[in-house]
Amino acid sequence: MLYDKASFSGRRTLNIDGWHKSHGRLTRGNDGNADFPPVGSKATKNRESEVEAEASTELVPDGDPFALFQAWYDEAREAEPNDSNAMALATATPEGIPSVRMVLLKGHGPDGFIFYTNSHSRKGGELLSNPNAALLFHWKSLRRQIRIEGPLAPVDADMADAYFASRARDSQLGAVASDQSAPLDSRATFIRRYEEAKDRFAGRDVERPPHWLGFRLTPAAMEFWHDRPYRLHERRRFTREGDGWASTLLYP
Ligand SMILES: Cc1cc2nc3c(=O)[nH]c(=O)nc-3n(C[C@H](O)[C@H](O)[C@H](O)COP(=O)(O)O)c2cc1C
Repeated sequence: MLYDKASFSGRRTLNIDGWHKSHGRLTRGNDGNADFPPVGSKATKNRESEVEAEASTELVPDGDPFALFQAWYDEAREAEPNDSNAMALATATPEGIPSVRMVLLKGHGPDGFIFYTNSHSRKGGELLSNPNAALLFHWKSLRRQIRIEGPLAPVDADMADAYFASRARDSQLGAVASDQSAPLDSRATFIRRYEEAKDRFAGRDVERPPHWLGFRLTPAAMEFWHDRPYRLHERRRFTREGDGWASTLLYP
């Protein structure tokens, strides 16, 4: 099923104090923590009825979670000033000790979500010993969050080669020079290693280090969160069921 963008883009005409329409989206003013006004005030009554009217519209519809992801991602690419493809990646040791950091989404589709990294890094070690992870997108200007959870595995070498080859040469050299997550005595050591890599690959293509890999997380669950006035937020969680998806709303 394809989503009609306008049906969940947050385009509304609601005008509650502290909230206003901006670029077709409902946004909050400086008071990012707006709560209900004093109970019993005239404003309270007006706001209650406006909240009731507004709250009946669903902004996170049921359907195909990948299509919904695509629609929100497309909007994020227009709305976010930097790195709309940035996502938090949570991993854990086999003993269940968690760690989290940002990575960049470099490919996605119904078969999963792809990022690239050094597999000798802390996250790489955790992923190779416990191949379950979670991703989190938070697009602040859209006031939306997407959580994705599932198993993951390295992408094939051809795909990693192709992506590595598309990177700027200096980024390739940086990837060769960086022993990601290992202790470093000084920045000068890192720059020296970068210069060495530059000399080693002079006049030829930089080879992808064999431990520099892409990982594809195949979602078992995807959850969409949309900010709503007065913290009456909307959440929908999709879980795999056979070849398709089941979904349910969750209390915020
Ligand atoms: C916005 C942003 C995007 C990043 N993208 C990546 C990435 O795609 N791959 C990567 O290895 N590190 C990326 N990093 C650096 C990681 O957050 C992290 O510092 C590094 O991968 C080492 O993590 P680890 O020690 O947990 O393995 C990014 C950092 C930021 C802030």
